[in-house]
Amino acid sequence: MSSTEATVATKREGFSSRKVFIFAAIGSAVGLGNIWRFPYVAYEGGGGAFIIPYLCALLFAGIPLLYLDYAIGHRFRGSAPLSLRRLHRGAEWLGWWQVLICVVIAIYYAAILAWAGKYTLLSFTKGWGDDPEAYFFGDYLQAAATPGPTFDFVPGILLTMILVWVVTIAVLAMGVQTGIGRTAVIFIPVLVLAFVVLVIQALTLDGAMDGLNALFTPNWSALADGGVWISAVGQIFFSLSVGFGIMITYSSYVDRKTDMTGSGAVVAFSNSGFELLAGIGVFAALGFMAQAAGKEVSEVVANGIGLAFVAFPAIINEAPGGVVIGVLFFVSLLLAGLTSLISIVEVVIGAIRDKMGISRRTATFAVGVPMAVVSILMFSTTGGIYVLDTMDAFVNSFGIIAVAAVMMLAITYAFRKLGVLRAHLDARSSIKLKGWWPALIAVVIPLLLIVMLWQELKAKIDVPYEEYPADLLNVFGWGMVIALPILAILLSLLPWRGDVSLEDAPDVHDELVDGGENS
Ligand code: ALA
Repeated sequence: MSSTEATVATKREGFSSRKVFIFAAIGSAVGLGNIWRFPYVAYEGGGGAFIIPYLCALLFAGIPLLYLDYAIGHRFRGSAPLSLRRLHRGAEWLGWWQVLICVVIAIYYAAILAWAGKYTLLSFTKGWGDDPEAYFFGDYLQAAATPGPTFDFVPGILLTMILVWVVTIAVLAMGVQTGIGRTAVIFIPVLVLAFVVLVIQALTLDGAMDGLNALFTPNWSALADGGVWISAVGQIFFSLSVGFGIMITYSSYVDRKTDMTGSGAVVAFSNSGFELLAGIGVFAALGFMAQAAGKEVSEVVANGIGLAFVAFPAIINEAPGGVVIGVLFFVSLLLAGLTSLISIVEVVIGAIRDKMGISRRTATFAVGVPMAVVSILMFSTTGGIYVLDTMDAFVNSFGIIAVAAVMMLAITYAFRKLGVLRAHLDARSSIKLKGWWPALIAVVIPLLLIVMLWQELKAKIDVPYEEYPADLLNVFGWGMVIALPILAILLSLLPWRGDVSLEDAPDVHDELVDGGENS
């Protein structure tokens, strides 16, 4: 390593202000999870009645975990592995587990963004024709007849995937403030504007009110179903970007004096506000589709890939002003997804940068290029959709939920650092954590997560996911989630080449005395 590189590597970057950090955190939170996952989860989970498990999950699980992530990153000022290593030598592997989860999510998330990019262009001419389903799975993805990985490349996907990765790597190479921060400050207002116009347009469609009735009519009996509460927690974690290293990494770039709990509340409620807006927009459009097809809304609701790439094109085909709806919808998906993808890849870059003691540029290319190659090779093939679906289904539960539970238990009982983290946030924040926070982190949330994991394990063993072939599930589902913590332990055993000293992470007392430092 040259001496210039060493200097660059040791000087920690940062967001220029609290506002930029909040924009970046909202940019990470608002993503595919809000636009295509939330409306369906809410509808399935009891519609109007879902507000209760959703708010409970937000207030008693999502926000407390967000604060834990913030406390770790802001106090120990490093990527997930470095912050956790500084917290305790034995905690480093937990950081690598989160990094590896981000590797998995990033490689398939990029593929979905590539589809959204292509569909933005197709919207102008309704290029998917009269049968959007046949177009998407047949003409566009050329999905293999048997689920499983293949080596048959689909050039149409390849090209847009390359573009998505070039943009992501370019933004990240520019650094925390100029790249991540500035992108969020520009993209988020554009996204909100585009989405508000989309929702207004959707609300003017015939049948929109039927859609909203379907979404908001409370089905109170759903609350008796434990699965609904579990899906509310799963939704909040993925959507808020907590439990997989992103918020640890981002908060390590924030000025030491910043009010973290107040900022977190702004981020969390903005994310939920966007989720609500997405629910309204999506269901208004589905109401239109149901009316046009002479069906019940329940017969046309769709989730995830089916909603975005099959149901929406069908709506765009029929709706007055369909082209506008199409462009706004897919541009929103693209903008929301890009700022999330950037945050997911930054977790990996930050980790490698800290561990190897290399500059941002070197780390960005060393991490970004191999990830892009793997992502493109895996997902621009005719079998990509099946691999993507499997990885997504397994990594969210057995990855994010599992690492969050283990991290909370380890920090509380093995490393006994909950008090230090709480004191850190309380010393500088508007919302004080009092006794409720440790109680939630030490007992309530881990217990809940363990129950969730147990239920999920039973469900996935009883009925193989999507009835996919065992080989596919064993390699890209079970195999992948088991390999991640093992690989994480191995990575934590490799020697550090970067600076691990706590020199730039003084304790609370020192910080209050020296008045902090601008990052
Ligand atoms: N929080 C991001 C999303 O909702 C990952 O898609």
